[in-house]
Amino acid sequence: MKNLVVFTGAGMSAESGINTFRDAGGLWEQYPVEQVATPEGYAANPELVINFYNERRKQLLTVQPNDGHRGVAEWEKDFRVTVITQNVDNLHERAGSHHVIHLHGELTKVCSSRNPNDPRYIKELKPEEYEVHLGDKAGDGTQLRPFIVWFGESVPRMDEAVAAVEQADILVVIGTSLNVYPAAGLLYYARPETKIFLIDPKPNLAGGMPHVHVIAKGASEGVKELTETLKELR
Ligand code: APR
Repeated sequence: MKNLVVFTGAGMSAESGINTFRDAGGLWEQYPVEQVATPEGYAANPELVINFYNERRKQLLTVQPNDGHRGVAEWEKDFRVTVITQNVDNLHERAGSHHVIHLHGELTKVCSSRNPNDPRYIKELKPEEYEVHLGDKAGDGTQLRPFIVWFGESVPRMDEAVAAVEQADILVVIGTSLNVYPAAGLLYYARPETKIFLIDPKPNLAGGMPHVHVIAKGASEGVKELTETLKELR
């Protein structure tokens, strides 16, 4: 089986009803990013940040995977698929994808405030525990913090993602503005012979990527269209 790597951003989940970050009405228009998505913001007002992610978690309970997520999961029938996502939702998993690398963390998990990446203190929350409070403690006695990679923090799973892209026969990028590094740099690790597709209604491709096949459509429609093309590439 060929290796198919799918690299997704907020646009992947837009049709499920989760706002993107940088489109009009996006999350970063409603909440100052430096307050809710940086270590400095968390240090200044942990309660605000904890509540912000409580809200995101609650929203997760009200949304469903869309046809795009489901189509990506179906590709596992014909390819060895690795999903690399910048999204912190769990919609790829819920649609049936088995190998998902979350570059920017996971909403359903919490961790230590001192050592966010220490596996001993990373905990998956059950839906009934989705509301975290100031004073709730991780295993090391520090405040339970959202397991989210904030701006200015390192991206611990980047090496794993790079290794997957280097092995990709086909790379499909879906619904990301490719603004945020290091994630956006993943495309450059593809080998020259790797076939690259981009599904996005407003594709934002910087120069230097001449061999990208652009499908300027939303995730569901674009995945459906690409599924036909992929049948020829198995
Ligand atoms: N289908 C596919 N793509 C869509 C759709 C849709 N229905 N609707 C919008 N898009 C596209 C937009 O055109 C845009 O290119 O999704 C992209 C969303 O871009 P951003 O909001 O910048 O989201 P993303 O690229 O995932 O952001 C990266 O930034 O704030 C951080 O950590 C956060 O992981 C996030 C990172």
